[in-house]
Amino acid sequence: MKTFYIETFGCQMNAHDSEKVVGTLLEKGYTQVEEPGQAHLVLYNTCSIRDKAEQKVFSRLQQFKREAGRGKVFGVLGCVAQQEGERIFDRAPHVSLVAGSASYTRLPDMLVQLEAGNRRVTGLDLNTTETFDTPFTRRDNPHRAYITIIEGCDKACAYCVVPFTRGPERSRTSESVIREARSLAELGYTEIQLLGQNVNSYRDPSHAGWDFARLLAETGKIPGIRRVRFTTSHPRDFVRPIVQAIDENELLCDHVHLPVQSGSSEVLSRMQRLYTRDEYMRRIEWIKNARRDIAITTDIIVGFPGETEAEFEATLRLAEEVEYDSMFIFKYSKRPKTSALQYEDHIPEEEKTRRLMVLQERQRATQLRRNAAYIGTVQEVHVEGYNLATRQWIGRTTQNKTLNFYEPDLPVPADGKTLVGQYLDVLVTRSGPNSLAGERAASPPVQ
Ligand code: SAH
Ligand code: SF4
Ligand code: F3S
Repeated sequence: MKTFYIETFGCQMNAHDSEKVVGTLLEKGYTQVEEPGQAHLVLYNTCSIRDKAEQKVFSRLQQFKREAGRGKVFGVLGCVAQQEGERIFDRAPHVSLVAGSASYTRLPDMLVQLEAGNRRVTGLDLNTTETFDTPFTRRDNPHRAYITIIEGCDKACAYCVVPFTRGPERSRTSESVIREARSLAELGYTEIQLLGQNVNSYRDPSHAGWDFARLLAETGKIPGIRRVRFTTSHPRDFVRPIVQAIDENELLCDHVHLPVQSGSSEVLSRMQRLYTRDEYMRRIEWIKNARRDIAITTDIIVGFPGETEAEFEATLRLAEEVEYDSMFIFKYSKRPKTSALQYEDHIPEEEKTRRLMVLQERQRATQLRRNAAYIGTVQEVHVEGYNLATRQWIGRTTQNKTLNFYEPDLPVPADGKTLVGQYLDVLVTRSGPNSLAGERAASPPVQ
């Protein structure tokens, strides 16, 4: 019996790529196992966004080095594979497969080569559109499904490795996206998440010529779909019709992730982000002026080369002004091939850590305040799981907030699954910086 193990690092695009890889391997007669020790084929689907992420895979590979050769085959997939290419064979000679995210449709062929005993198999072609879906994709979650609508990135942010690891931007035809969404709805999925490095740069390559707002609106009309999310949006390509689409259809979730990176126009210019602070704030205004209460989240990089104290404070001020619902904060990390490598005045690690902690502290206070405002309201949640330790169900609101709740009428489920996948109304009774808690709202009286 052929067995495989896969560990996935990085973003949702990678998580979804792994679903494609797993499906392809199952189709080829492999069986998935939970421990690398039990597997014939050990795969790491890697991320290279920051140095730490890249190091992780090499330390994993070291761990099992001695088992190579005893019938075990190692493969590196994803962004580190694309970035390092055949150099991976030098850094970790027991690796036999190096394949970037654009070559997964060639996996069956690569598996044949591996099974024939070939010790150096690569798939590093980048410029292909055959990456969006596979007929075999094996999704992890039976209720919420990812759909890739655009691959790669044509921007050139000074710090970012993604254009090198994912290649040029390629959009998928709207017809193909809608077809996949419809078939998922027929299979019983109720939540769709449209994926891309910059989803809103989407441009339909077919005659239909849809833009992202249209694609979003049409996905929200598919019978059986209850929620549609999308990530990530680039501020430069974020247009008002996206907000209007959300306003018009409540199935489109009330959440926009709009990474700002910095609150200083000077830093944004050095980062080559293609927008100023004011242009970004105009987009925030559109979102805040919507009829719906749309949650806003962001990514921020602290300690970009040359970031002065005053520039960092501009980021603190922007964060106070926007009042984000949640924020991912990263310390700038040097990446190969990126233009920021040439900048002088790299910020010392301790100073980056200090800035990260200051921003984190402020953001925590904002989240406490914002989340407290939900107490007393009723929110619809999509139930994702059950926490046996706290005896609470785990739900997610349209605004992407975690809302844990008790279900008074229901004994503790033996299988922990009975409500999972349902949409229920929950009365919020408590709040913290990172989540809300409550109780199942009483059903409205039957008329
Ligand atoms: N396409 C998205 C971002 C994708 S990468 C956008 O343009 O907004 C996810 C996040 O990782 C980025 O938003 C950025 O905050 C962070 N990131 C990317 N490169 C980084 C680097 N070299 N150091 C630190 N953080 C980085
Ligand atoms: Fe990276 Fe910039 Fe492209 Fe986002 S837009 S993936 S940060 S290069
Ligand atoms: Fe990482 Fe590649 Fe995603 S670098 S963040 S896995 S696109």
